[in-house]
Amino acid sequence: MKNMKRTFALILVVVMVLLSITACGGSDSDSAVDTIKENGKIVMLTNAAFAPFEYMEGNTVVGVDADIAAEIAKELGVELEIVNMDFDSIIDFVKTEKGDFGAAGITVNEERKAQVDFSVEYVTSTQYVIIPADQDPATYDLNGKIIGVQQGTTGDMYYASVTDTFTCKEVKRYKSAVDAANDMKAGRVDCVIIDELPAKKIVENNADTMLCYDPGWAPEDYAIAVKKGSDLLPVINTVLERLMDEGMIEEYVINHTGA
Ligand code: ARG
Repeated sequence: MKNMKRTFALILVVVMVLLSITACGGSDSDSAVDTIKENGKIVMLTNAAFAPFEYMEGNTVVGVDADIAAEIAKELGVELEIVNMDFDSIIDFVKTEKGDFGAAGITVNEERKAQVDFSVEYVTSTQYVIIPADQDPATYDLNGKIIGVQQGTTGDMYYASVTDTFTCKEVKRYKSAVDAANDMKAGRVDCVIIDELPAKKIVENNADTMLCYDPGWAPEDYAIAVKKGSDLLPVINTVLERLMDEGMIEEYVINHTGA
């Protein structure tokens, strides 16, 4: 009887020790912030064909989102690494922790909110239409047109693919809106749908062949994406709130549009 009691007590101790080990989850930390600080580096995922928000200057990714990211890195006291990739894979990469956050002029919507967490919104935009310079924006009719978009963007999702705003003839999807605009120049698409400031930038660089107009569609808000439940979110929000309070986002936009 005494022996049985002792064995039972021993089993209980073993079970309790095992339980406490699994509860701690070993040494792996759930904190993104801790991991970033341990590594001394934070990784931003973007698609650098979206001036003024992100574009290449030589081999470096620069732009409004890169400036914001530099402030986030500074807040954490770590280095910033920027990975340039296809826009339509960014959310997936954030989800699977192949980077710490996605900053790419990403429009917040329900579909994306189901996959990642979003920061506070830092820019409001809308979709623009780029057309050849010999067309009249006042009478331009999107019905029956071949439309170029950047694959996986809201221009692609809302307006070209599943729209009831108009019925286009065909949607051509590109790695970037710049590629789509080049194909418009070559006569392979009729027009391009992309966010306001990137549209204006493309037109600025092709002033004699293109113009753009606002078709009056719904406004969209940009935010930074992190993995669901990430403790990085409050840090990013603090930085964004401060930058907005200080008027820095507008300043970054001005710096990168040359306005
Ligand atoms: N705002 C649009 C979206 O979220 C387009 C963003 C494209 N961004 C980029 N860096 N290429 O779908």
